[in-house]
Amino acid sequence: MTRTVYVNGEYLPETEAKVSIFDRAFLMADGVYEVTSVLDGKLIDFDGHRARLERSLNELDIPKPPEFDDLLDIHRNLVAENGVEEGMVYLQVTRGAPGDRDFVFPSKETRPTVVLFTQNKPGLADNPQAKVGIKVISIEDIRWGRRDIKTVQLLYPSMGKMMAKKAGCDDAWLVEDGFVTEGTSNNTYIVKDGKIITRNLSNDILHGITRAAVLKFAREAQMEVVERPFTIAEAKEADEAFFTSASAFVMPVIEIDGAAVGGGKVGKVATRLREIYLDESRKAGI
Ligand code: PDD
Repeated sequence: MTRTVYVNGEYLPETEAKVSIFDRAFLMADGVYEVTSVLDGKLIDFDGHRARLERSLNELDIPKPPEFDDLLDIHRNLVAENGVEEGMVYLQVTRGAPGDRDFVFPSKETRPTVVLFTQNKPGLADNPQAKVGIKVISIEDIRWGRRDIKTVQLLYPSMGKMMAKKAGCDDAWLVEDGFVTEGTSNNTYIVKDGKIITRNLSNDILHGITRAAVLKFAREAQMEVVERPFTIAEAKEADEAFFTSASAFVMPVIEIDGAAVGGGKVGKVATRLREIYLDESRKAGI
């Protein structure tokens, strides 16, 4: 099926959508993005994603695109047009295409490029992996120092995924100065003696929208949350491990660097948090 996508004010068939070869994201990875999940045809945590997009744009001094205030409608139109019941909407905003390559930022008159497309993923919420858990390896975190900004510089996370696949695993957890920062495309957690431990927010990690929601639900359910860095050694000894993201929701991890976590079984806390997150998100979807 040919999807309808959105580019700079126009809804087009994906085969007709075009972005300039001079686009700053193509030449310099000068762009930011968001991924919003869709359940029951509704957007999950949309306000959080829009707020983080605004922050990413501000941090990089990328002008707000003209359609910023219409983003909810654009998301909804694409979901409806493409008949997405479960899946994602990908949004990217770049510093635009000034018509040549130059390290210097273009003038503020250059229109930021705005692209949105949907990804249909039937069965996303019922992902069978959530029942068996996934395996991760640890690798060094050699990304830049502003991981709080959701930029499209995803080469190293992509390489990390490939390293994991080569090792017969599903994902990689990134380690800096001995402590886990986050996963290639998710925030990471361990559970020990009933406490949920996850790295505190800083420029070192992306401030996950799913993370914020899951921690809120955990606290409301009287679970104890400790926000601090942890090591791979600590994670291997934990009762449970899991990660969160807009596309995976809450995903249990049962093996780290070949060592079984929690006896290699999906844990109760991760399972419960996934249920709560999916239930509450469905209710709050817009
Ligand atoms: N990734 N950390 C990183 C490095 C991420 O790329 C992501 C999201 C997260 C989780 O953030 P959120 O809960 O807001 O999705 C944490 C998206 C899903 C992606 O790149 O596809």
